[in-house]
Amino acid sequence: MFPTHVERLERLTELLAEWQWLWAPAPFMHRQSPWQQHVSRYGWVAHLAECLTELDDETCMRLQDDPFDDSPLAAWLPVSELAELVAVPNGVESERLSAIMEAPSRWADHVGGRKWQQMAAFAAHMLPPGLQPGLQPMVEWCAGKGHLARLLSRLHGVEVTGLEWQRVLCDEGQRLADRQGVAVQLSCQDVMQDDVVTWLEGRSVVALHACGDLHVRLLELARQHATTVTLAPCCYQRTRYTDYRPLSHLAREETTRQGLCLSREHLALSVQETVTASHGERRKRERASAWRLGFDELQREISGIDEYLPIPSLSHGRLPQDFAGFCHWAADQKHVALTPSIDWSAFEAQGWERLSRVRRWELVRHLFRRPLEMWLVLDRVVWLEEAGFDVELCEFCERHLTPRNLLIRARPVVDPSLGH
Ligand SMILES: C[S@@+](CC[C@H](N)C(=O)[O-])C[C@H]1O[C@@H](n2cnc3c(N)ncnc32)[C@H](O)[C@@H]1O
Repeated sequence: MFPTHVERLERLTELLAEWQWLWAPAPFMHRQSPWQQHVSRYGWVAHLAECLTELDDETCMRLQDDPFDDSPLAAWLPVSELAELVAVPNGVESERLSAIMEAPSRWADHVGGRKWQQMAAFAAHMLPPGLQPGLQPMVEWCAGKGHLARLLSRLHGVEVTGLEWQRVLCDEGQRLADRQGVAVQLSCQDVMQDDVVTWLEGRSVVALHACGDLHVRLLELARQHATTVTLAPCCYQRTRYTDYRPLSHLAREETTRQGLCLSREHLALSVQETVTASHGERRKRERASAWRLGFDELQREISGIDEYLPIPSLSHGRLPQDFAGFCHWAADQKHVALTPSIDWSAFEAQGWERLSRVRRWELVRHLFRRPLEMWLVLDRVVWLEEAGFDVELCEFCERHLTPRNLLIRARPVVDPSLGH
């Protein structure tokens, strides 16, 4: 038996608030344990930090991948309760999914392999049981080139309109749809504008990986216009607000009561996961992180100030060839005057050592990352329920296809004016 959405939201608010002092500090910024200042109050936190520091590489990687399984953190933290609170039905609609995967291969033309599998899984989970396919035309929200729109139109024989604000994506998407003879119209539309409501009349809406404010806008309009929605949300941090504003009445009340305040940086934590990165990409990211930390050691020594100095991000293609090159670039960015005769290999080694500690301390954040994401999704779910929608929450695909695999299916069942 799964707890109700309301029960989950209440309990997650409580746990996230209770442990915020532990999961919120970013270990990357700290030379010593990020929980140092709490040791006088919670003596055990020194043992926790020590226990993590001593983990071997294999265990560390295993816990990065699955923070809830056989975790040493269970000695101090409610690991199994968190695991229960993030568990949702996996909604496997295997027959429907296999049927889609057997579709003619040209259906997947111009779509990347992983994207195609995500779309197929999304489509297989799209319709709430009992709702006949083909009844309503559909809208794809923030459609890009309308790949999902084409799949849905083919599957259900309905007209699908893709809303996308980039003209070049609309033009390209329209060409693809026309060439393939699919009933898809790409419309150049900013979904944040008022006139977007004209697209909702008599249609259901789907959105795969619509970011932050873009999907909140969709849900807001769906509440007002009693629109059926299927949404896989993502990038909660892409919002105009610096601090998170809960959507549901319940989350507003509970966050105030429990003292949970989430910044944009916290929201970003909920989507930091690299399960879809290749081994090579992961290795490159590791190196970039170790160099950043090595530079941090160096700049602290030069400046005599024992404080983390953030440096801008750099795309991997632009990462300098070696550590010394990286430090020159970073020093330029932050106007740090490098001293002559720096022992580059010593600082690089310090960077790698620090990264090894950081990775272990970050396991605490890993443990709270999915609960945080689940909390954000539940805020959306309960917001819709408060407006009289019947809402289901499930995982529409395996994490290795996309870690943003939570799906909200919402149908209005009572008078929509309740939600206003
Ligand atoms: C993360 S992509 C998702 C695309 C597609 N749904 C998918 O899964 O591949 C987000 C898309 O939203 C579009 N977008 C961003 N802001 C928008 C806005 N205000 N109105 C309409 N589209 C927007 C972007 O141009 C981009 O194509």
